[in-house]
Amino acid sequence: MNHEVIEKNIGLMGVLILIVVSLGALVEIVPLYFVKNVTEPVEGLKPYTALQLEGRDIYIREGCNNCHSQMIRPFRAETERYGHYSVAGEFVYDHPFLWGSKRTGPDLHRVGGRYSDEWHRRHMIDPRSVVPESNMPAYPWLDKTPVDKSHIKKKMEVMNLLGNSLGQGDRYSAEEIAAAESQLEGKTELDALIAYLQVLGTALQSAR
Ligand code: HEC
Repeated sequence: MNHEVIEKNIGLMGVLILIVVSLGALVEIVPLYFVKNVTEPVEGLKPYTALQLEGRDIYIREGCNNCHSQMIRPFRAETERYGHYSVAGEFVYDHPFLWGSKRTGPDLHRVGGRYSDEWHRRHMIDPRSVVPESNMPAYPWLDKTPVDKSHIKKKMEVMNLLGNSLGQGDRYSAEEIAAAESQLEGKTELDALIAYLQVLGTALQSAR
């Protein structure tokens, strides 16, 4: 085709630009679906337990990810501070990903095991009581609110559905799903949130 024809027809040019950009995107994205270390969990990574799964949803509901990223970049300044950089295989059970880039507070990807449960409890109820200069909001109601059990079975079934669609198979057995509600019995939202924080980034730590 004569190049001039394209240059003088903005509609045609638009369509052709779209095709070129789409091809470029496909070339970048498609291979990632086939690279094993991107699609398969790192050794030691386990699907979230019922309590952790609820904690993760509370983390999203409270907007913790607006101030905290979960993505340690492979730079010395980051790995010295937070630990091993994040790898794709650590996030295969995360729907949606909570990587983020806004860091009003520190990255939380490897916060699991860094503090005691009691530290987190005090920090969430009143951040200033443990970090005097903190400007993180307090979340005292989490400690008084029982965790909502009504959706946990459904959530685990959906996780199985997602796992199967990714070719990983079921994440939870029928027994685990049946036992889920009883695992949430008597737990507060704060218990769930802390259970989630304490597992963050620990799979790779233990593999090192
Ligand atoms: C307005 C921004 C903001 C929001 C929202 C926020 N945080 Fe923070 N967070 C901070 C800041 C700033 C710090 C550093 C000071 C401190 O430790 O309190 C921090 C620190 C932390 C730490 C300690 C990290 C470390 O390595 O020392 C944890 C854990 C944490 N936040 C969890 C949460 C959770 C869970 C939520 C949601 C319920 C949340 N944060 C919401 C700003 C925020």
